[in-house]
Amino acid sequence: MASRGNWGSKLGFILAAAGSAVGLGNIWRFPYTTGRNGGALFVLIYIGCVIVLGLPVLLAELSLGRATYRNPVGAFRAIRPGTKWHFTGYLGVLTAVMILSFYAVIAGWTVGYIFKTLAGQFNGLEKSGVAAVFSSFIGSPWLQVLLLAIFIILTAYIVSRGVAAGLEKFSKLLMPLLFLILVLLMVRSLTLPGAEKGLSFYLKPDFAALNGRVFLEAMGQAFFSLSLGLGTMLTYGSYLGKKESLVSSAAWVAVLDTSVAILAGFIIFPALFSQNMAPDQGPGLVFAILPVIFSHMPGGMAFGAFFFLLLAVAALTSTISILEVPVAFLIDEKKWPRRKAAWLMGGVAFLFGIPSALSGGGMAFFSRLPLLHVDFLTLWDKAWGNVALSVGALLVAFFVAHVWKTANALQEITAEGARFRLARLWAIAIKYVCPLLILAVLVSQFL
Ligand code: TRP
Repeated sequence: MASRGNWGSKLGFILAAAGSAVGLGNIWRFPYTTGRNGGALFVLIYIGCVIVLGLPVLLAELSLGRATYRNPVGAFRAIRPGTKWHFTGYLGVLTAVMILSFYAVIAGWTVGYIFKTLAGQFNGLEKSGVAAVFSSFIGSPWLQVLLLAIFIILTAYIVSRGVAAGLEKFSKLLMPLLFLILVLLMVRSLTLPGAEKGLSFYLKPDFAALNGRVFLEAMGQAFFSLSLGLGTMLTYGSYLGKKESLVSSAAWVAVLDTSVAILAGFIIFPALFSQNMAPDQGPGLVFAILPVIFSHMPGGMAFGAFFFLLLAVAALTSTISILEVPVAFLIDEKKWPRRKAAWLMGGVAFLFGIPSALSGGGMAFFSRLPLLHVDFLTLWDKAWGNVALSVGALLVAFFVAHVWKTANALQEITAEGARFRLARLWAIAIKYVCPLLILAVLVSQFL
């Protein structure tokens, strides 16, 4: 166990786990998905998914990781050796590489935006000017691949240096700073003329917009945002000591993560509606509106550059947690040295990321896939970020509840006298509610 590394402290763990959860999922993916799914009703269903599905699965992953001190493949093997259950772990490893591949492209956008803002490229621009800068930016193939490479290199470098030394340090100071800057941005956005229309889109549910896809997207977003479904939290739990309370850690992570997402919506939607911009424009949404907000602020250039820097750091604490999954697998199961595992898996994610990097117009084929009529990045985001994560979460819930058994999981959760007042409720959720609900939402998509 000592050779696998450990978190320095409970706070270190919460910060690292919250650092994993809080990222582009909150600030880029949540607003664009909310915008595409009609606003307030989606937000309601999303919060429901966090409570009913996210929290139970989060506890399941953490307990599975800490009970076995293993990576996702090894954890299933340790509990049910000789069965096929460890393929759930393999699915997680694959999903991790695929999510990292497109996530790093968006993270590259934030890096590009630091420099664009500093260089004054958005100065004084209104929405059409910003849109033009953005589309020429994502349409530049070499630049996009370069930024992808830079972000993968940063991620692989930190992961190659190991758990406590690499992962923990980055989360400590910058997360509170990000929160503060988000609050300031919210104030600016809410005081723009016409902001009320955005507020009502965000807060007043329109039940006519309800359909099956909204459920899948809300569920997928909950898993994505809480870093569930591929074994990130399982792996992070495997570096946690028995003294720490899994319940309070899970609660902290969920509350922090959800607050940041909700806050991001309070920035994006008032500003969007005040500029008469469409909320359903997809993955580019946030990058098209944020510079407009900054240009309506005194000192907006410096403020904006600093914001994109913090966003890039938040993305980095998430990408390292994604890469940690395949790396922990190779270290534990294949006895690879950490450095080799980090650089090789980073390299694979880079190669798979190239189509996403070219999907903003750099190569026509990837910006409009034949037959599917979506771009590659959107397709990858939905396929891995919604469907594969939901399948992964379903398997984890079913395994913990019906194969490992809730009694064993509860023993791990309440190790060393830790209290868990809602144990019964959790058992019901993980046994029945999670598997059935996730399955129902997934199956409904194919009918
Ligand atoms: N949760 C992170 C975000 O919101 C991204 C992330 C990190 C993730 N690890 C994950 C998503 C594991 C899915 C699975 O930005």
